[in-house]
Amino acid sequence: MTNYDVIVIGSGPGGYVCAIRCAQLGLKTAIVEGRDTLGGTCLNVGCIPSKALLHASHSYHEATHNFEKMGLIINSPKIDFKKMQDYKNDVIAQNTKGIEFLLKKNKIDWLKGWAKLNAQKQVIIDEDVYDAKSVVIATGSEASSIPNVEIDESRIVTSTGALSLSKIPKSMVVIGAGVIGLEMGSIYSRLGTEVTVIEYLDHITPGMDLEISKNFQRTLKKQGLKFIMGAAVQSAISTKSKATVVYKKSDVETKIETDIVLVSTGRKPFINGLNFKEIGGELTHTGQIKTDNKWKTSIDGIYAIGDAITGPMLAHKAEDEGMAVAEVLSGKHGHVNYNVIPGVIYTTPEVANVGKTEEELKEAGIAYKVGKFSFMGNGRAKAVFQGEGFVKLLADEATDRILGCHLIGPAAGDLIHEICVAMEFGASAQDIAMTCHAHPTFSEAMREAALACGDGAIHA
Ligand code: NAI
Repeated sequence: MTNYDVIVIGSGPGGYVCAIRCAQLGLKTAIVEGRDTLGGTCLNVGCIPSKALLHASHSYHEATHNFEKMGLIINSPKIDFKKMQDYKNDVIAQNTKGIEFLLKKNKIDWLKGWAKLNAQKQVIIDEDVYDAKSVVIATGSEASSIPNVEIDESRIVTSTGALSLSKIPKSMVVIGAGVIGLEMGSIYSRLGTEVTVIEYLDHITPGMDLEISKNFQRTLKKQGLKFIMGAAVQSAISTKSKATVVYKKSDVETKIETDIVLVSTGRKPFINGLNFKEIGGELTHTGQIKTDNKWKTSIDGIYAIGDAITGPMLAHKAEDEGMAVAEVLSGKHGHVNYNVIPGVIYTTPEVANVGKTEEELKEAGIAYKVGKFSFMGNGRAKAVFQGEGFVKLLADEATDRILGCHLIGPAAGDLIHEICVAMEFGASAQDIAMTCHAHPTFSEAMREAALACGDGAIHA
């Protein structure tokens, strides 16, 4: 039996970041992971592999659409999908090995296997029992399906299956116009698949600022994705060579035949087999592990972070909680500012947001002003065929304090962090407007949106 200060269960971005911070703060730490490689969903079957395929498919799109315009004449580009998958797998291997290196460097033990908790709050892996002063559950999430849709990961797939298809399908039906559906749909649409997205609501990406959401949908439509909105999928059945999807719209049922069905209707905490509930651990009414504001569960000494608890299912939210809980465990004051957690969709153009949407501000009765700037007025964006999209900055009407930012455009996922830092410092739109931004950069669009909150943008 080995005694640890902390055992972290799960090695995704929440778990491994937590373990590293625990070790840095002098705690004897172990991490449990049942997969053959570290990094959890994000590194193995999520964020990282999808970014590799988004990059490859975007590069193909550039080669077929924009190279000639720039005087780059190449023979018609072809896709070797097997090689593309090899590239993706190599990216995964580099990243997961990187985490293994970091754990070794920080003298963190990797306990291999699937952990279970017992009533004495010990961690059991197969026959082995481990003791720890504190346990952190960072077991992440898994895809949640809908009734009458049976996932087989070959024809009816989640994002995991969609990342590893053996060939590019001719057609794909995506159930749910959330982040996963639109990122994966974009990849295959660029590679030539006919993609049809079926969404229950009348707009895509629920929770996003509505103006951005509408603009984003128009952009995706132009890129070739088809949308069936206000339609509820009733069933998806796999046959030998196809799948049949039935959806209901305005009380009329329609059938579609397709090669692949991607089920992207949300995710749920991955806590089966952990024995947490069985030893008296409390869950929320929606099935997440219940924690207090210091990530402590209802069981003393057991903490939980990331997708397994409430809040947005985002790798970086889990990372922040991982660092904060490590600080709590070493007697410091761990803190996460949930008001400043950016969200990014890695399509082209990218979509990013932080803070309140216009709809939320209206609902809360907060008087606000809007500064908007189109990337068409940004020289750098136009030079690289990315003049589509705009920045929208929301600031308090009376104090000018930044309340939120929403944008669609080039490098949006990086640009948003200027506003995150500004919001952490309680900055005003004028603070951004008065900050010199290098020319020519995409970031000038952020400054222009801030200028538009005051006396007006220059290049509008
Ligand atoms: P989601 O919750 O973002 O979207 C699911 C969509 O499916 C909703 O729009 C919903 O209305 C629709 N839907 C549900 N049932 C339906 C039905 N029967 N018929 C038609 N439409 C239906 O879920 P998604 O995309 O699966 O993502 C899961 C989680 O993973 C999210 O929390 C997301 O933030 C996270 N994620 C984040 C990424 C990023 O930050 N870039 C990338 C991938 C995932």
